[in-house]
Amino acid sequence: MASRIPLVAGNWKMHKTPAEAGTFARNLLGNLPNNLAVNVVVCPPFPALPAVALKLADSWICWGAQNMHWDAEGAYTGEVSAPMLQALGCRFVILGHSERRVLFGETNEQIRKKVEAALSYGLKPIFCLGEELATRDAGEAEIFCLSQLADGLEGLPWANPEALVIAYEPIWAIGAGRTAQPADAVAVMERLREKIASWHGRDFAEKVRILYGGSVSPESIGSFMKEKQIDGVLLGGASLKLDSFSAIIRAAAEAKQGT
Ligand code: 13P
Repeated sequence: MASRIPLVAGNWKMHKTPAEAGTFARNLLGNLPNNLAVNVVVCPPFPALPAVALKLADSWICWGAQNMHWDAEGAYTGEVSAPMLQALGCRFVILGHSERRVLFGETNEQIRKKVEAALSYGLKPIFCLGEELATRDAGEAEIFCLSQLADGLEGLPWANPEALVIAYEPIWAIGAGRTAQPADAVAVMERLREKIASWHGRDFAEKVRILYGGSVSPESIGSFMKEKQIDGVLLGGASLKLDSFSAIIRAAAEAKQGT
């Protein structure tokens, strides 16, 4: 089994002004030792990216965006592009989050174009997928997630396994205060990894990081990170507070040490 460095990503959604985000980033950096065996990325709202970039420049913590358009420029009111994010030092971009899919009508086809554009600019997509509760209750969670994976990624020029991260976020667990059972998340992730192996080979698939997201807290992080299949977490609410974000980052680093 390839050893994958754990990743903890904070999706701040529509929270924090530039001043708040900058202060938070500085405090996060000050709150953590810089030799933790974990990668960390914060994804503030667009207007806060410069403030966060300023505080985290030359540090071990990365930053990224929560969305982008697939074209480099054009008449798209309200949109931002990969080269614009790159110019702000972003290394990651969240794509296909269920809030984009459900609340803003993003389609698989659009998300696929975004992933392709991000890859071509060297931005790492955090490609999100996950089922509604009714789909899980119908026993179709795995098949649904596999189809989202294929719609988003099959056939794309994804040459390096580390160029993209997958986040399994069951919609019913997001902001809900209840997580998926780690074993259920693992079952989905195993199927996703098998599918990636069928496209790119087993060695490639073993190097792809797959995160869990949905109501992860300092109390629940250990139960996820002890699973070999789970390479980290995509946090919403818990990444907004210094204490909970730092505790989760430390726990993620410790959990994978020596495994
Ligand atoms: P919560 O951690 O608040 O459930 O949000 C998860 C999420 O949507 C991260 O992208």
